[in-house]
Amino acid sequence: MKIVIDTSEAIAQKAAEKYVELLDAKPDAVLGLATGSTPLGLYAELAKLCARGKITFAKAHSFNLDEYMGLEGTHDQSYRYFMNENLFSHVDMRIEETHVPSGVDVTEQTAADYDKLIEQAGGIDLQLLGIGNNGHIGFNEPNTPFGSKTHIVELTDSTRQANKRFFNSLEEVPTHAVTMGISTVMHAKSIILMAIGAGKAQCIKDTVEGPVTEAVPASVLQLHPDCTVYLDYEAASLLGK
Ligand code: F6R
Repeated sequence: MKIVIDTSEAIAQKAAEKYVELLDAKPDAVLGLATGSTPLGLYAELAKLCARGKITFAKAHSFNLDEYMGLEGTHDQSYRYFMNENLFSHVDMRIEETHVPSGVDVTEQTAADYDKLIEQAGGIDLQLLGIGNNGHIGFNEPNTPFGSKTHIVELTDSTRQANKRFFNSLEEVPTHAVTMGISTVMHAKSIILMAIGAGKAQCIKDTVEGPVTEAVPASVLQLHPDCTVYLDYEAASLLGK
């Protein structure tokens, strides 16, 4: 793992550089994307670079990590809605080439079809990840098998509590989601993991310095040949201690 530590603004800029390099070299690259608070700075940076003509997504394809079950793409807490609002409407990506797993009528078959779609697109070139306080990546909660493909998950109480800030009440937070599996993520050619804030310091320490264990899903990234971890000073504060 390569570790980059800087301010949250600087890591967003440095991560954005990776996209400039990738799309310069491979305009039709397949991007694996994430939602949540962490990528917002990066997405704003990509929108700025696109407006200045420094990057184009015109030929790119994207696959998001996950979606809440039971929410239509028009629901303002769905991840499809989040992506449209925070990235797709600000860059020149063809909306029909952006994929977010559907949160409605989800079955194990539609989940498996998502993996097939990724394969047919040639596999993910660069996968972006945030990390949950419990070490989850995508919605792969602790003890998800490393061999998992896209699948349906029951969200843990801690994840629902963490995400309740976006809903009116805990009851409104969906209980299930569909997520790329750990194996789906590990098949990406390159991976970026980003973490911001002191609340992520312990899971980052466990991910980077702890044993590779299904109890800390992100620790599997130690086994990936090309994974860069971008941390702000707070998220990196427990490293080496
Ligand atoms: C989002 C996702 C999640 C988040 C993680 C961190 O698509 O898959 O794993 O990356 O929960 O969320 P934030 O960035 O809001 O702290």
